[in-house]
Amino acid sequence: MQDIDLKQYIRGIPDFPKPGILFYDISTLLRNADAWQLATARMAHAVAPWQPDQLAAIESRGFLTAAPLSTRLGCGLIMLRKPGKLPGETISLTYDLEYGSDSLHIQADAIRPGQKVVVTDDLLATGGTLAASVALLRKAGANVVGASVLIELTALRGRDKLDIPVHTLLSYDE
Ligand code: PRP
Ligand code: MG
Repeated sequence: MQDIDLKQYIRGIPDFPKPGILFYDISTLLRNADAWQLATARMAHAVAPWQPDQLAAIESRGFLTAAPLSTRLGCGLIMLRKPGKLPGETISLTYDLEYGSDSLHIQADAIRPGQKVVVTDDLLATGGTLAASVALLRKAGANVVGASVLIELTALRGRDKLDIPVHTLLSYDE
């Protein structure tokens, strides 16, 4: 299992969610117990040297990577959520999408000033979501020390929007 190429568990689905988009479907990785265990082990191995106090999880598919990573690393987990989901006082950040805008929220007391945080998501595409998450975490007082994603679409150059180290498990150049 250690030598396995995890890309064989990722399915490319053409024209989803709209024509011309090739969607990398992680469902087929998630449903294979051994492959998913190996994927999270490899991600945790890469993140461990950053020694985060907290893992920040981007709703919704980032929750999938954050939960196993945080338990493997022995650190806490903070949810970055879409509007109207978090109770109590929150801090928010609105960011531009291809069409329109979106916003993410964090609980105002989630982070002790200067805590080391690694942010995680399933996918780095244009980088807009991850860049907004980093900005929100900083607004909340975090020292963001890195990002960990399962898949990076390198041709979209999302990494260029980020000023932190990024670990990617699987890269695709188209
Ligand atoms: C997808 C994906 C990443 C983001 C990457 O999330 O899960 O979070 O897009 O795109 P970007 O790098 O161009 O910002 P989506 O907003 O589709 O929602 P979901 O996670 O709730 O499925
Ligand atoms: Mg997402």
